[in-house]
Formats: sequence, structure tokens, C-alpha cells
Amino acid sequence: MKKFATKYGSFSENGKEYVIATPRTPRPWINVISNGDYGMTVSQTGSGYSWRTHAQLNRLTRWEQDLIKDEWGKYIYLRDEKGNVWSAGWKPVCAEPDAYRCRHGLGYTILESKNFGIETELLMFVPRDEPMEIWQLTLRNRSRKTRTVSLTTYFEWGLGQAPDWHREFHKSFIETEYDSKAGAIFATKRLWEVPTERGHWNTNWPFVAFHASSMKPSSYDTDKESFLGMYGNQAMPASVGEKQLAKRKGNWLDPCASLRNGIRLKPNQEATVIYTLGCGDSRPHAADLAARYRSKDAVQAAFSKVSEHWAMLLDTVHVTTPDDAMDLMENTWLKYQAISGRIWGRTAYYQTGGAYGFRDQLQDSQLWLPIDPGRTKQQLLLHARHQFSDGTVYHWWHPMSEIGLRNDISDNLLWLPFVTNAYLQETADFSILDLAEPFVDVAHPASMYDHCTRAIEKALGRFSQRGLPLIGAGDWNDGLSAVGLDMKGESIWLGHFIHRILHDFADVARRRNDIERSERYRAHAHTLREKLNTLAWDGEYYYGATLDSGGKLGSKENEEGSVWLNPQTWAIIGQVSDRDRSEQVFDVVEKKLEFEIGPLLLYPAYRTPDKYVGYLTRYSPGMRENGGVYTHAATWAVIAAAMLGRGASAHRLYTKINPVHRGKKADVYCAEPYVTPGNIEGPDSAFFGRGGWTWYSGSAAWLFKVGLEWILGIRPTVEGLLVDPCIPSMWKGYRVKRTFRGAVYNIEVRNPERVECGVKEVWVDGRVLGAAMGPRRTTLPLFQPETAHDVVVVLGKTESPS
Ligand code: GLC
Repeated sequence: MKKFATKYGSFSENGKEYVIATPRTPRPWINVISNGDYGMTVSQTGSGYSWRTHAQLNRLTRWEQDLIKDEWGKYIYLRDEKGNVWSAGWKPVCAEPDAYRCRHGLGYTILESKNFGIETELLMFVPRDEPMEIWQLTLRNRSRKTRTVSLTTYFEWGLGQAPDWHREFHKSFIETEYDSKAGAIFATKRLWEVPTERGHWNTNWPFVAFHASSMKPSSYDTDKESFLGMYGNQAMPASVGEKQLAKRKGNWLDPCASLRNGIRLKPNQEATVIYTLGCGDSRPHAADLAARYRSKDAVQAAFSKVSEHWAMLLDTVHVTTPDDAMDLMENTWLKYQAISGRIWGRTAYYQTGGAYGFRDQLQDSQLWLPIDPGRTKQQLLLHARHQFSDGTVYHWWHPMSEIGLRNDISDNLLWLPFVTNAYLQETADFSILDLAEPFVDVAHPASMYDHCTRAIEKALGRFSQRGLPLIGAGDWNDGLSAVGLDMKGESIWLGHFIHRILHDFADVARRRNDIERSERYRAHAHTLREKLNTLAWDGEYYYGATLDSGGKLGSKENEEGSVWLNPQTWAIIGQVSDRDRSEQVFDVVEKKLEFEIGPLLLYPAYRTPDKYVGYLTRYSPGMRENGGVYTHAATWAVIAAAMLGRGASAHRLYTKINPVHRGKKADVYCAEPYVTPGNIEGPDSAFFGRGGWTWYSGSAAWLFKVGLEWILGIRPTVEGLLVDPCIPSMWKGYRVKRTFRGAVYNIEVRNPERVECGVKEVWVDGRVLGAAMGPRRTTLPLFQPETAHDVVVVLGKTESPS
């Protein structure tokens, strides 16, 4: 049964595939497939690119960002005995197929097409732990005649960084070779443009790329000129019609890779050819990889390993709620997007990154907590190594070159203690605080506790005279890039964020007997809270920031951007506002910022570029940080609603930003309905409701977290797993399977009185749980690892909702 069908596609019955019914979607709808080192993007047209370790510094195949043409890729041309030419995907020939489907799955994509009586099925995936990709092409002759089909692969080599504006330069370092015994093309490059601290580069690209076929090719080419023909084009390359490819190789070429095979198929006969593309560490390694997948069995074994791996990762947390679209996202797609796209691939179509954003991948790594918290720990240690001894951090850095950007954005460093605290809540593994890591500038290792507290101390040293934190070159919102360059302007959101962290780390410090610090953090939090509630209060809500000149932003005094989302939601999340004020500011969020597409980051949009505010004012009104829904921040509104016990609001907000629902108006929304977008254009845009920047968005991990922890209310704390549902009152109940400290909790929540929140009774393995019950929530007992337990939670009206 198809789920959430639109004219462009639908989810498969088990929700684990998104099946696209036509190559002509409103934008490229892609998959980001990665094994943590090697990766590839593939769109529904069959276009995309491949990389190893870093999608920018170490891209293997050429790709230029063009979301309209989407015409860079790794392609297979087919030509029959009559001279009909088409491709296994839709691009680059763009023949009109008799049938077409693109199935994006977990770790793979399948392109199915039928042309001139020949059915093709192209399975593309990346094996679990090898730096390569496999394309298995199956052809079936559905006509009544014997058919002869030639197959010709084609793509262009990039081999490291090779920017478009410098391609003539870069091509002169590439060398290709054909090994007829192996049936494989090999490619190397004598230069790798990876900038280092010393500002120059003069090394070989340290890999050997290959492209091979399971069937011995009858000819090959590695020269784009002979392949396409001078002034030729990809849609109809000159050589596809030739009996043989030109067999050009060596240096001085415009380097590409192309292999030619021929196949004869009787009626109803089927044949399979396997192609590989990859990036070995050396020539023998590349040759070994190129020889590995020559049979369907070998491919099947590798494919099963990939599927099992994804099942193992994704099935660790499973929810069954009355909201199918939420189940699809929580069970499958948000986790997949965060892991494959954001943490492993770190690239997509709207942004091809490859770097680590200090705050970005740290926040993303929270996704691992209920699945495999050891991976969050690794991410924390990695980021600690990218901190300087004064507590500041790289805004982002490139793996491979280790080049990073330092700036005065004020919140980056604080995500280290924030995510460390989240790790502690999940695991109670306080030993992480004693692990030692170096700094960027000091090799001598310091404890993680030291790393975290240096970040906090640094942040505490950057306050204005009147006691609010300085915004510097921006806070979480990168687009506020000019507000505080003179180190005078203040950020209110940052104040709320610091307030939260001070309380969390006051607890951590107390546990470590660092009493002076614990008390100091508490005292500072106390003062900060007072200041925020007096100095940052705008009458009806919190304003957003002050400029270096002292003027307010995000205030009723401003005509543009007069109310901001983060300073309201985080007043609640950071526990800065009291109950009444929290209710009041949340009402403001609902009334002034919430639209059909979700809560806007600010409203109304800036129409005039303002050099004292920052680049967000330069975006078209309603776009991205300038008055669109910024999905990442929108997820925080769900937490705020749930903290207030507003179940209907929490779920409504989640639903509004759930791409499954947004995608129903596919021609307005345009973007993929199975992954979150970075942003949705707001009411001040001519394209109100259009989604963009999909895949590469920190919202995936957060939306997963807020759904599981704040709506379904299954939340880790140091003491144990908390149950604190906050749901729409019409829900009868739901189930959650979740692993916590090694034990499996099978939780069933029942809602006989149709309330939004309030835990009345808890049964564990058939016995009622007495003592630990609070007024609204309850902490479940801890269990032995590797045991499974049934928990029944009955909601109902409780005496005093907290
Ligand atoms: C981008 C950045 C992220 C930032 C956000 C808001 O998504 O990657 O770090 O917080 O924009 O500006």
C-alpha cells in the first residue's frame, strides 16, 4: 500500500523506501548514501556525485551545483540495434521512458526504467566498509525479438578539489590508465589542492581511483573530447553511436571514464552487469577493490550487510503512534537523514560541505544517544580537540586538511558543555569528564571537564557591563553577523542558553566536588535570570538583541524583524521565564509567529539590507533566516510547548514542520517529502511555503529528539528514564520501544481520560510502581543491561500539573 501519495511519489508500505514515480519532480529529490567514509548523492534523475572522507576536498567525480539542470552525474547509456539511445536513469539522455521509478532506500537507490521494450533496474549503493560504490544493472528483454544492447558508462573525474573556475589547471595533473586484464580504468592526480596552515600545497593526491565492470569491456575511453565529440554534449555523445570507444588514456586529456559492454538478450532473458567506482589507498588496494564485486552473489552479500546495518541502527528506537507521518519520520527518515546525510556525508545538493561545523555535528550527534551513545562520546572528544586553550573553538574545520575558521560567533563553544550534559543524562557515564584531549594550540591534554568549563568561563567573560552576554559575530543565528562586531551588542537567546548551561554544569561541578564553581555558576545563573527578565523584556515578550550602538533588535520598536522566535522559546527551555511569563511568550509565538508552515524565525522579514545587523537582512524577505521557518529552530518551539504541558500545540507544531505533510502540496513545497528542509519560505516571500536546503540541516536530529522526548515524553535523566508525555488529548495511546543503559523498555502509554499530559499510574512488568510518582511525570526504574521490560503508563487528570 502506498503511503502519503502525491502525483510525484509515495512511501512504501513499511515506510523504508520513498518511491518517486516520475523523473520530473519540482526539484531534484535525492538520496545521500554514505558508510561514514565513502559516499554518493543520487537524484531521481540519476545524477549526483561521489566522494571519500570529504565531499569538497576529496570529491571523486565532477559535479556543479545546478538544481535546475541537475545534469552532472555518473551515467550509463544504452543503445539498441536500431540506434535508439536512452540512459539507465533519466539523465542525461532524457528519453521518454514507458515506465520510470526511483526508489530511495536506506543506504541505496534503485532506478527502474522501461524503454524500447527493455526494462532496466539500476541498484546503486555503498558497501558497509569499503571506499567504493556498486552499480548493479539488470536488463530484461520484454520484447518479442532478440535484442542487442550496448552499454556505455560515463562520468568526469574530479579527484580531490578541482573547482570549476580552475578546471584547465586541474586537468593537467590527472593521469588515467586502462588495465585490460582487470577490465578497469585507474586514475591518479599529481596534485592535491588541500590548503594547509603553511598556505601552499605540493603533494600527490594520495589515492588511486578506479572504475571497473564485471563484464570485460570491449573498449573504453578516458577523454571527454573523444567521448562527447568536440562541441558535443552529454545528451547524445558522439561515441555512444560508434562501434568502439576511442581508447584514449594518459595525461593531457579532459579526463573522464567510460567503459563499453555489449549484451544480447533473447525475449524475456535477463542479464546483469556490475560496475564499480571507488577510491583506493594505493594501486594494489584499488585493484583489489575493483576485482571484488564481479558476481551477483558478492553484490547481494554486500547489499545485505548494508541493509542489516541500517536495520540495526534504526530499529533501536521504535514508536507506534496514532500519527503515521510522525512514525515514518521518527522510525526511519529523521535518523537516516541525520546519520547518512549530516554526520557521515556532511553534504547534499543545496550545500556540499564536507567540513565539521563545531555546533552542527555536535548537535546532530545527540541523535546517537538512544541508539549508540558511544558515538556521541566520540563526537564530543573530536570536537574537544578542535577547541583552543582559551576556551574558544573553530566555527568549522575541514577533516583531511585540519584547516578551520575562527570567528567571534558567541555560542559555538557552549555546545560542548551542552551536548556533554545530554550525554551524561543518557548514560550517567561521568567518567567521560576525566578523559583527556589536547587543544588545537596546546598539545598537553586536558580533561573533558576542563574543556567544558573553559568554554563556560570564556562565555562568562564575554558579558556587557549591564550583565548580558555579548553576541559578537552572531549567536546560533549565523545571519546576525554584524550585530556585535565591536563586542558591545548583546544576545538575549544566548542569555537563556547560558542560563540553562550554568544550571546543568552547577550540578556537574557539584558531583565532582568542585563546590566553588558550582556555587559560582548558580549565583551567576540567578543574576543572569534577573537581568534577562528586566533588561531584555519588551513589554509583551523578550526582544532579540542589542546592537553595538545600543539600539534594540527583535523588538516592538522595530518595523522589520519585530519579534524573534528563539528568545521566546528558549526563555522557556532555559527556565528563565516564570510560569506566567512562559505562557505569555508562548502565546506570542502562536499568535505572531506561527503560520500554516510552522513558526517563523522572525517576523516581519527584513526588506532593507542593514549592514549593522548582518547578512540575514540581505536574503530575500521570507527566505531562510530572514523570516522563513528555520526548521532547526522551529523544533525548539515543540519543546517549549511541551514544557508548558500544551500537548495540542506541541503536536500541531511538529505536524506543521513534518515534511510528510508539507510535501502534500508538492508543487508549492517543491522539496523532498521524506527529509527535513533547512528552511521553508515565509509569508513575506513570493514563494510562501517553498522548502529548500534539504538533507543538510541540523533539524533532523532535533526533530527526532523533540518527537521522542517531548511529545512522546520518553526522556533520559541521570537518575533514569523519565516518562512525561505531552500529546493531543484525542490520542488514545501509543507505544515506544527504547533502549536505555543497555536495557530495552517496551512502553505502552494509555490515555483513557483523553488528557494532554499527566501520568497517573505506571506498571512495570505487571506490577504497579508506587513511590517514584510525581504529579505529572515519573522516572522508570533502571534495569540490568540486556534485559527487556514491559512498562504500561496510564495518563489521567493529576492533582497539580507541574
Ligand atoms: C546554519 C548553520 C548553523 C546555524 C544555522 C542558523 O544551518 O549550519 O550552524 O546555527 O544556520 O543560522
